[in-house]
Amino acid sequence: MCGIISVLSFKNKISEDLISALERLEYRGYDSAGIAYVDESSKLERIRSVGRVQNLKDIVENLNIGSNLGIGHTRWATHGKATERNAHPHICNGVAIVHNGIIENYQALKKDLLNKGDEFESETDSEAIAKLIAYNINRGNGFVEAFKESIAQLVGTFAIVAIYEKEPNVLLGAKIGSPMVVGLSSDKNSFYIASDAAALASLAEDVSYLEEGDLVAATKTDKLTYEILDSNRKKVLRNVISNATSINDVSKNGYETFMLKEIFEEAIVARRVYDNFSYNINDLKFDGVSIIACGTSYYAGLLAKYWIEEIAKIHVDVEIASEFRYRNPVLSRNLLYIFISQSGETIDTLYAMRLVKEFGSQTVALVNVEGSSLAREADFVIKTVAGTEVGVASTKAFIAQTLSLLLLFADKKNIDISQIESSINFVLNNHYKFAHEAEKIKDSKSLFYIGRGVNYPIALEGALKIKELSYTSAEGYPSGEIKHGPIAIIDENVYTVSIAPFDKNFEKTISNTQEILARNGKILLITTEKAKAYLNELLGDKNLDCLFLPDANSICQPFCIITAIHLLAYYTSKFKGHDVDKPRNLAKSVTVE
Ligand code: F6R
Repeated sequence: MCGIISVLSFKNKISEDLISALERLEYRGYDSAGIAYVDESSKLERIRSVGRVQNLKDIVENLNIGSNLGIGHTRWATHGKATERNAHPHICNGVAIVHNGIIENYQALKKDLLNKGDEFESETDSEAIAKLIAYNINRGNGFVEAFKESIAQLVGTFAIVAIYEKEPNVLLGAKIGSPMVVGLSSDKNSFYIASDAAALASLAEDVSYLEEGDLVAATKTDKLTYEILDSNRKKVLRNVISNATSINDVSKNGYETFMLKEIFEEAIVARRVYDNFSYNINDLKFDGVSIIACGTSYYAGLLAKYWIEEIAKIHVDVEIASEFRYRNPVLSRNLLYIFISQSGETIDTLYAMRLVKEFGSQTVALVNVEGSSLAREADFVIKTVAGTEVGVASTKAFIAQTLSLLLLFADKKNIDISQIESSINFVLNNHYKFAHEAEKIKDSKSLFYIGRGVNYPIALEGALKIKELSYTSAEGYPSGEIKHGPIAIIDENVYTVSIAPFDKNFEKTISNTQEILARNGKILLITTEKAKAYLNELLGDKNLDCLFLPDANSICQPFCIITAIHLLAYYTSKFKGHDVDKPRNLAKSVTVE
């Protein structure tokens, strides 16, 4: 969701850093962007624009800005529409702030400030923060004191960065609930506060993640220094780690889009996960597993349930984090709770984990972003090593999540990684075939994805990808469930992607496919080479659209099917002319409930 960057520097071309960081934050999802800076005459200036960062960049490039202190923001609208008026930074009497998260008591604060004579220009909760700091300065406090006082008055989750034109050598930040990372440039001439390490790729080689309630104050005298205060306002040191996001991770490397690049990394990621996997949970005592996650990460959990129950004979429940949190779940100390999140910041998953930790059960976080909130708070962390995922739709992280879960419960030597790799590569090398099929399904008014067994969660993942990227209504269903209602929707305008590799469920799924064909539904069959010999016998001479994937053993088979449905979704969206990397209304990191 929203992204933050800020810089205090000895160089006076900080606008370049702000814009390049905002470009790297684009992947989080946003609908407006802005910067504020203190210029060479100590005057606070602000530029905001709706839409892409490029719009902001076009304005900034024409201005030749000289400044050592600035903040920038990409906003994903929560309170108030995506308009310039609502875009950050918000300013008041020389104070400028950017804010991620939600200020829950902003109505009360706003009322109070309105009574004191303030006027509000936006519909946002964030504007109240700038007003509050300015008000506290006006009461005779210095900037730092006013900031501290204001932060203490806020209720909610936030990452906030503030600057003040009368103190142009100070940069302040505070965080509760939303991530915040700080770092110095390697020449020690610039200090940055950002919402994630990707923003600082190429700016800071080493970074520190702030903890809950931390406040950071950077000051420029003859050198740049900063101190971090914990929630009791005691000076603390936070670990300095190397910034795991390299500039290579956040560039397209010749691919048309990040999503395509990331799908094409799926075989490499599978190999990397396998080679690096050395986690074991043998020392942990549990007699059941509860997996909690959202979206694609939730589907990774559903897929793993089939494997874990089959291989390890352990009962597994899989839950959507937002539901788990609010239904008073019956918790157990005999369960191992696994929280899956690519970003490691999804607020519902994080709060679900806190609930479980408070109860005293063991928590495992399966995350892709190092230093993320889930990674920092879990008892046990498994890194999915997919590398930075920039496309908003999760692809290579899904491969990494599912394979990591498999390796956690299966014997590594029984997993044929070469077969996984080669079958994914086969799909990638034949990507044009998926493009060809995507042309056919792209105008369908709605889509079904069906599958049995492990192919059911894959069907859910396929449908989700179509929804988010093509804006077409799509549903994933267990093949056997179709005739319990959804079949009523089937007619010649509805496409069903039937996932039926040649496995123990093949004939059953084919017979469900026939039920759809009998009602004039269109079918795209995703199957495997060995099925060729049986298709005529089972389906007669019906002229079906088929995609044939390589056969693999039952454990390895899902991986190339995942790559196949990712490619299909990718091309469907591309041919509809959509922005594949930044689908409308979506955010990469969902940090509000
Ligand atoms: C779908 C997608 C989302 C995320 C979901 C959870 O392509 O990307 O459904 O999977 O928002 O995000 P994480 O994994 O970061 O917790």
